[in-house]
Amino acid sequence: MCIPDKNIYKPHLATIEQIIDETPDVRTFRLVFEDEAVRDSFSFRSGQFAEYSAFGAGESTFCIASSPTRTGHIECCFRAVGKVTEALRRLEVGDSVGVRGPYGNSFPIEDFYGRNLVFVAGGIALPPLRTLIWNALDQRDRFGDITIVYGARTESDLVYKRELKEWQERSDVRLVKTVDPGGNGPDWDGQVGFVPTILEEAAPSAENTIALVCGPPIMIKFTLPVLEKLGFGDEQIYTTLENRMKCGLGKCGRCNVGNVYVCKDGPVFTAGQVKAMSQEF
Ligand SMILES: Cc1cc2nc3c(=O)[nH]c(=O)nc-3n(C[C@H](O)[C@H](O)[C@H](O)COP(=O)(O)OP(=O)(O)OC[C@H]3O[C@@H](n4cnc5c(N)ncnc54)[C@H](O)[C@@H]3O)c2cc1C
Ligand code: FES
Repeated sequence: MCIPDKNIYKPHLATIEQIIDETPDVRTFRLVFEDEAVRDSFSFRSGQFAEYSAFGAGESTFCIASSPTRTGHIECCFRAVGKVTEALRRLEVGDSVGVRGPYGNSFPIEDFYGRNLVFVAGGIALPPLRTLIWNALDQRDRFGDITIVYGARTESDLVYKRELKEWQERSDVRLVKTVDPGGNGPDWDGQVGFVPTILEEAAPSAENTIALVCGPPIMIKFTLPVLEKLGFGDEQIYTTLENRMKCGLGKCGRCNVGNVYVCKDGPVFTAGQVKAMSQEF
């Protein structure tokens, strides 16, 4: 019998250093690896994900939502929807979780140097783009204009509210925030309307620009034609997919679409690659 010398499924232990409630059901964990050697050596790229475990409950897949430019910790942001995420939600500051990863491909940020960036996100889908937003802002002079179009159903459903305020106040970022019709209170200072409509009104130029889109399927469905209308080609548009996963490592076959393993070949794809994959269904 062949006994592997390294268990690829063994997670690293990480302590919850900080908990931030983003919305009534979405929570951010700031995690610090307990082993100093892991803490010093752990590196990742924007767009990659990890498997996070609540002991006794199982593992869940979340993107690494912090930027690789900010070292010493990682952050994840999750919505409590089921067994594992509910168990993670019951944890407190000082408790331990398991983390294995980073897995998957990443946004090719070096290819974006010298170009404008347009981020388009809906609801809980801001975290996979937030890592790249801070990554770009931490090396601001490498990029042209940065536009962020972000929307949620209601004001309370917007995540990273403190960072939206920070981006709004920066002169080198154009933030367009919106809530669905009926989702705003009397003091709302953003737009009202669905993300694709607001994106069309904001009309960022497609010239020398990369669009990064993440959101619920319905938002993606209506956003891609808007980007096309604005002149974006399929290879100028990147998105990140959230197919259900188990191993995260290309072993279990849970996440594949045709011969593409979303965990290994993705989760980051261009619109052209996603269109080619959807023909496989
Ligand atoms: C690459 C990737 C990145 C992700 N990043 C994040 C993130 O940053 N934050 C976050 O909150 N979630 C993220 N998800 C989704 C997250 O993995 C699931 O919501 C979570 O694993 C549910 O686990 P559970 O045991 O609590 O729920 P379960 O008890 O397994 O399921 C509860 C409900 O959630 C649905 N569900 C489970 N997994 C998914 C999924 N992958 N996509 C859609 N619906 C699902 C189930 O169908 C069911 O209706 C990501 C998924 C992938 C694949
Ligand atoms: S999650 Fe197991 S093969 Fe992709």
